[in-house]
Amino acid sequence: MGDILITEALTRRYGSLVAVDRLDLRVAPGERRAVIGPNGAGKTTLLDLVAGAIRPSRGRIRFDGQDISGYGPARRARLGIGRIHQRPAVWPSLTTLDNVAVAAARRRGGVGRSRRPAIELLDRLGLAEHAGVEAARLSHGQRRQLEIAMALAGEPRLLLLDEPAAGLSAVEFERLGAVLRDLPEGMTVLLVEHRLDLVYAFADVVTVLRDGQYVATGTPDEIRVSHVVRQAYSGAVA
Ligand SMILES: Nc1ncnc2c1ncn2[C@@H]1O[C@H](COP(=O)(O)OP(=O)(O)OP(=O)(O)O)[C@@H](O)[C@H]1O
Ligand SMILES: [Mg+2]
Repeated sequence: MGDILITEALTRRYGSLVAVDRLDLRVAPGERRAVIGPNGAGKTTLLDLVAGAIRPSRGRIRFDGQDISGYGPARRARLGIGRIHQRPAVWPSLTTLDNVAVAAARRRGGVGRSRRPAIELLDRLGLAEHAGVEAARLSHGQRRQLEIAMALAGEPRLLLLDEPAAGLSAVEFERLGAVLRDLPEGMTVLLVEHRLDLVYAFADVVTVLRDGQYVATGTPDEIRVSHVVRQAYSGAVA
């Protein structure tokens, strides 16, 4: 079977700044791939490009054999690309449960009768007791976990996670680790994360970026001891 996600010379410019520079990535189906690098490396820009939130200045993106470079975000979501944002995006005036139910309905193309899958997801994310609470009243960490529940409700084939551990309490962080470990085997995951303990525990393969440039790809063991990776991080605020 071919790679599920391929980027070819993927490039995004902002004026004279090259946020992502001719990036060639190949991610296998079911792979857990982490993308790390200092602030401004282009990690969020990469996820935005794959999700279709922004368009490439150059280059292509292939998903499951299709060139999706010209597709909008909704079409990519229907193909099975799900994501969570660096700043959690939820519907603040809906309850926690309704946020997940709506996310699930969007995927299926209609509102389902049963709320049980949504309740089970909330339970896994530790949000069951907040099911009836307006999302606006949740803490930052809870909103982040809610967004993960919403993404999972869409049963994505490719899940894009932008700093899921940011702002979580120690308990929430532990739970996130368990949720990531328990993701369906066939789900491909692209994880952007500054918490390297989580990255090394979760990822099969790690790609390092800096200033939009590709630095290295390797197993967690290779990346942990890599000289070029240390250099990429040196002097940078991570
Ligand atoms: N809309 C935009 N307009 C102009 N420049 C942008 C825009 N979005 C991102 N950039 C720039 O592109 C570069 C890459 O940004 P990006 O957000 O992808 O980095 P990142 O690796 O996600 O960093 P962080 O770890 O801080 O989240 C940065 O220099 C950033 O300032
Ligand atoms: Mg970012």
